Amino acid sequence: MSAQPIVVTHPLAQIHLTAMRRVDTPSSAFRWHLQRLAEILFTVATRGLETETLTVQTPLAETEGQGFARPIVLVPILRAGLGLSEAILPLVPDATVAHIGIARCEETARPKPYYAKMPAILGRADVFVLDPMLATGGSACAAITQLKQAGAERLIFICVVSSPAGLESLHESHPDVPVITAAIDEGLNAQFYIVPGLGDAGDRCFGT
Ligand code: PRP
Ligand code: URA
Repeated sequence: MSAQPIVVTHPLAQIHLTAMRRVDTPSSAFRWHLQRLAEILFTVATRGLETETLTVQTPLAETEGQGFARPIVLVPILRAGLGLSEAILPLVPDATVAHIGIARCEETARPKPYYAKMPAILGRADVFVLDPMLATGGSACAAITQLKQAGAERLIFICVVSSPAGLESLHESHPDVPVITAAIDEGLNAQFYIVPGLGDAGDRCFGT
């Protein structure tokens, strides 16, 4: 399933992404478009999720409906992943939120993990790892490795913009993890930023 990333080309997704890319989009609008795009990406990411049949009583009759077969865990990679999780949590209010803090070294772009708080249910959950940017892939690979070490077995990675190098690295390290993205950009610049990309997602989200 995960050999090829799923690129969400729906016009609504692309319109929000285009607004995020604009250099003159202020943080307030950047966050708003990120949140709308997160809703779309999560809807696509959950399309094939296993459900269970539930029997419910309407005011008129008993009927069958669906519920998620497993608990859902959202894992924003701090900081920028928070922009995704805050939009997705209202869609699945019973989800548990795990946090993983990873900062890229500014010179080498190597990931430096600095925080992790994970729930005990990882092993029986559908786990969604959230980060707007997949550049070198170092942060995503490190986060997923930590989650697997803590027991996670079913993971999906959701990002807004990805690079070919990041996708390759993630697939090499974690071929079992499907990737949902709104764009695969041209590549990385000398500072390991995605080009054309949208700049530093955390800074743009939080105005730093
Ligand atoms: C950014 C981004 C990803 C990472 C992607 O975070 O949000 O986590 O870089 O780059 P990579 O694929 O090369 O690892 P950053 O480390 O800048 O932290 P921040 O979210 O706190 O700004
Ligand atoms: N992190 C970002 O926020 N943007 C990039 O382009 C690369 C890493």
